[in-house]
Amino acid sequence: MMDAVEYALWFLAMYGPPMLSNAAPVLVNGVIPIDKGRFFVDGRRLLGDGKTVEGFVTGAVSGFVASIPAAIVIGTPLFVLVGLAASIAALLGDIAGSFLKRRLGLERGAPLFLVDQLDFMLAATGLYAALGYIGDKWIYVGYTMVLVIMLHIATNNVAYYLGLKNTRW
Ligand code: CTP
Ligand code: MG
Repeated sequence: MMDAVEYALWFLAMYGPPMLSNAAPVLVNGVIPIDKGRFFVDGRRLLGDGKTVEGFVTGAVSGFVASIPAAIVIGTPLFVLVGLAASIAALLGDIAGSFLKRRLGLERGAPLFLVDQLDFMLAATGLYAALGYIGDKWIYVGYTMVLVIMLHIATNNVAYYLGLKNTRW
Protein backbone atom coordinates (compact mmCIF):
# COMPACT_ATOMS: atom_id res chain seq x y z
CA MET A 1 0.00 0.00 0.00
CA MET A 2 2.87 2.34 0.87
CA ASP A 3 4.25 1.73 -2.63
CA ALA A 4 0.96 2.78 -4.22
CA VAL A 5 1.00 6.06 -2.29
CA GLU A 6 4.63 6.65 -3.23
CA TYR A 7 3.87 5.98 -6.89
CA ALA A 8 0.79 8.24 -6.85
CA LEU A 9 2.81 11.16 -5.46
CA TRP A 10 5.66 10.53 -7.90
CA PHE A 11 3.19 10.33 -10.80
CA LEU A 12 1.35 13.53 -9.84
CA ALA A 13 4.56 15.51 -9.28
CA MET A 14 6.46 14.26 -12.33
CA TYR A 15 3.64 13.91 -14.85
CA GLY A 16 1.05 16.36 -13.51
CA PRO A 17 2.81 19.36 -15.14
CA PRO A 18 3.32 17.73 -18.58
CA MET A 19 -0.19 16.26 -18.55
CA LEU A 20 -1.70 19.63 -17.75
CA SER A 21 0.42 21.33 -20.43
CA ASN A 22 -0.83 18.74 -22.90
CA ALA A 23 -4.49 19.09 -21.91
CA ALA A 24 -4.83 22.86 -21.39
CA PRO A 25 -4.44 23.86 -25.10
CA VAL A 26 -7.76 22.22 -25.95
CA LEU A 27 -9.50 24.85 -23.76
CA VAL A 28 -8.27 27.85 -25.75
CA ASN A 29 -9.54 28.14 -29.26
CA GLY A 30 -6.18 29.00 -30.77
CA VAL A 31 -6.20 30.51 -34.25
CA ILE A 32 -2.52 31.10 -35.03
CA PRO A 33 -1.07 27.84 -36.37
CA ILE A 34 2.53 27.25 -35.29
CA ASP A 35 3.38 26.20 -38.86
CA LYS A 36 1.79 29.47 -40.15
CA GLY A 37 -0.19 27.38 -42.64
CA ARG A 38 2.94 26.18 -44.38
CA PHE A 39 3.30 22.91 -46.26
CA PHE A 40 6.09 20.33 -46.16
CA VAL A 41 7.85 18.93 -49.25
CA ASP A 42 5.26 16.12 -49.39
CA GLY A 43 2.56 18.72 -50.11
CA ARG A 44 0.89 18.23 -46.73
CA ARG A 45 0.74 20.67 -43.83
CA LEU A 46 3.87 20.85 -41.70
CA LEU A 47 1.89 20.42 -38.45
CA GLY A 48 -1.71 21.37 -39.16
CA ASP A 49 -4.25 23.69 -37.56
CA GLY A 50 -4.39 21.63 -34.33
CA LYS A 51 -1.05 23.07 -33.13
CA THR A 52 -1.43 26.74 -32.30
CA VAL A 53 0.70 29.44 -30.70
CA GLU A 54 -2.06 30.20 -28.18
CA GLY A 55 -2.29 26.51 -27.28
CA PHE A 56 1.47 26.26 -26.82
CA VAL A 57 1.64 29.32 -24.54
CA THR A 58 -1.39 28.19 -22.52
CA GLY A 59 0.20 24.75 -22.14
CA ALA A 60 3.54 26.15 -21.00
CA VAL A 61 1.92 28.48 -18.44
CA SER A 62 -0.30 25.66 -17.13
CA GLY A 63 2.69 23.35 -16.80
CA PHE A 64 4.60 26.03 -14.92
CA VAL A 65 1.74 26.63 -12.47
CA ALA A 66 1.40 22.86 -11.87
CA SER A 67 5.15 22.67 -11.23
CA ILE A 68 4.81 24.74 -8.06
CA PRO A 69 2.90 22.09 -6.03
CA ALA A 70 5.01 19.45 -7.78
CA ALA A 71 8.20 21.10 -6.50
CA ILE A 72 6.76 20.97 -2.98
CA VAL A 73 6.04 17.23 -3.32
CA ILE A 74 9.50 16.54 -4.79
CA GLY A 75 11.06 18.75 -2.11
CA THR A 76 13.32 20.67 -4.49
CA PRO A 77 12.61 24.34 -5.35
CA LEU A 78 14.50 23.87 -8.64
CA PHE A 79 11.77 21.47 -9.73
CA VAL A 80 9.62 24.50 -10.57
CA LEU A 81 11.94 25.02 -13.54
CA VAL A 82 12.40 21.32 -14.25
CA GLY A 83 8.61 20.86 -14.36
CA LEU A 84 8.32 23.81 -16.72
CA ALA A 85 11.03 22.28 -18.94
CA ALA A 86 9.20 18.92 -18.88
CA SER A 87 5.98 20.70 -19.85
CA ILE A 88 7.67 22.42 -22.78
CA ALA A 89 9.23 19.08 -23.78
CA ALA A 90 5.71 17.57 -23.65
CA LEU A 91 4.36 20.30 -25.96
CA LEU A 92 7.27 19.70 -28.35
CA GLY A 93 6.64 15.95 -28.23
CA ASP A 94 3.00 16.60 -29.14
CA ILE A 95 4.16 18.77 -32.05
CA ALA A 96 6.53 15.99 -33.18
CA GLY A 97 3.57 13.60 -33.05
CA SER A 98 1.55 15.89 -35.32
CA PHE A 99 4.51 16.25 -37.69
CA LEU A 100 4.68 12.45 -37.92
CA LYS A 101 0.92 12.14 -38.43
CA ARG A 102 0.97 14.64 -41.31
CA ARG A 103 3.84 12.73 -42.93
CA LEU A 104 1.72 9.58 -42.71
CA GLY A 105 -1.02 11.48 -44.56
CA LEU A 106 -3.33 11.73 -41.53
CA GLU A 107 -5.48 14.86 -41.30
CA ARG A 108 -5.69 16.96 -38.17
CA GLY A 109 -7.55 15.03 -35.48
CA ALA A 110 -7.23 11.65 -37.20
CA PRO A 111 -6.25 9.06 -34.58
CA LEU A 112 -2.85 7.39 -34.40
CA PHE A 113 -2.89 4.98 -31.49
CA LEU A 114 0.07 5.19 -29.10
CA VAL A 115 1.52 8.30 -30.80
CA ASP A 116 -1.54 10.37 -29.75
CA GLN A 117 -1.37 9.03 -26.19
CA LEU A 118 2.36 8.85 -25.57
CA ASP A 119 4.13 11.51 -27.67
CA PHE A 120 4.03 14.15 -24.93
CA MET A 121 4.85 11.82 -22.06
CA LEU A 122 7.78 10.17 -23.83
CA ALA A 123 9.25 13.61 -24.56
CA ALA A 124 8.82 14.68 -20.93
CA THR A 125 10.37 11.38 -19.81
CA GLY A 126 13.35 11.98 -22.10
CA LEU A 127 13.92 15.34 -20.48
CA TYR A 128 13.65 13.92 -16.96
CA ALA A 129 16.03 11.10 -17.89
CA ALA A 130 18.55 13.55 -19.34
CA LEU A 131 18.42 15.61 -16.13
CA GLY A 132 18.75 12.51 -13.94
CA TYR A 133 15.25 12.72 -12.45
CA ILE A 134 14.19 9.13 -13.26
CA GLY A 135 16.96 7.43 -11.30
CA ASP A 136 15.94 3.85 -10.52
CA LYS A 137 12.23 4.53 -11.11
CA TRP A 138 11.90 3.16 -14.65
CA ILE A 139 9.23 0.73 -13.45
CA TYR A 140 7.20 3.81 -12.49
CA VAL A 141 7.65 5.14 -16.04
CA GLY A 142 6.23 1.82 -17.25
CA TYR A 143 3.16 2.10 -15.00
CA THR A 144 2.75 5.69 -16.17
CA MET A 145 2.71 4.72 -19.86
CA VAL A 146 -0.23 2.39 -19.22
CA LEU A 147 -1.99 4.92 -16.98
CA VAL A 148 -1.54 7.76 -19.49
CA ILE A 149 -3.03 5.66 -22.31
CA MET A 150 -6.10 4.95 -20.16
CA LEU A 151 -6.42 8.53 -18.89
CA HIS A 152 -6.03 9.94 -22.41
CA ILE A 153 -8.85 7.77 -23.76
CA ALA A 154 -11.07 8.65 -20.78
CA THR A 155 -10.43 12.42 -20.86
CA ASN A 156 -10.80 12.63 -24.65
CA ASN A 157 -14.21 10.98 -24.40
CA VAL A 158 -15.22 13.51 -21.74
CA ALA A 159 -13.90 16.40 -23.90
CA TYR A 160 -15.84 15.05 -26.87
CA TYR A 161 -19.12 14.80 -24.95
CA LEU A 162 -18.57 18.30 -23.52
CA GLY A 163 -18.18 19.55 -27.08
CA LEU A 164 -14.54 20.58 -26.62
CA LYS A 165 -13.30 18.18 -29.27
CA ASN A 166 -14.79 17.06 -32.57
CA THR A 167 -13.53 13.51 -32.28
CA ARG A 168 -13.56 10.99 -29.44
CA TRP A 169 -9.79 10.37 -29.64
N1 CTP B 1 -3.99 22.57 -29.33
C1 CTP B 1 -3.46 23.82 -29.66
N2 CTP B 1 -2.11 24.01 -29.68
C2 CTP B 1 -1.26 23.02 -29.34
C3 CTP B 1 -1.78 21.75 -29.00
C4 CTP B 1 -3.15 21.56 -29.01
O1 CTP B 1 -4.21 24.76 -29.94
N3 CTP B 1 0.06 23.24 -29.35
C5 CTP B 1 -5.45 22.42 -29.29
C6 CTP B 1 -6.08 22.32 -30.67
O2 CTP B 1 -7.34 22.94 -30.62
C7 CTP B 1 -6.21 20.82 -30.85
C8 CTP B 1 -6.57 20.37 -29.46
O3 CTP B 1 -5.81 21.22 -28.60
O4 CTP B 1 -7.21 20.48 -31.79
C9 CTP B 1 -6.27 18.91 -29.17
O5 CTP B 1 -4.90 18.64 -29.39
P1 CTP B 1 -4.44 17.36 -30.22
O6 CTP B 1 -5.32 16.19 -29.97
O7 CTP B 1 -2.99 17.19 -29.96
O8 CTP B 1 -4.62 17.89 -31.72
P2 CTP B 1 -5.47 17.33 -32.94
O9 CTP B 1 -6.50 18.34 -33.29
O10 CTP B 1 -5.89 15.94 -32.68
O11 CTP B 1 -4.43 17.37 -34.14
P3 CTP B 1 -3.29 16.29 -34.52
O12 CTP B 1 -3.91 15.36 -35.53
O13 CTP B 1 -2.23 17.13 -35.11
O14 CTP B 1 -2.87 15.59 -33.27
MG1 MG C 1 -5.44 14.49 -31.36
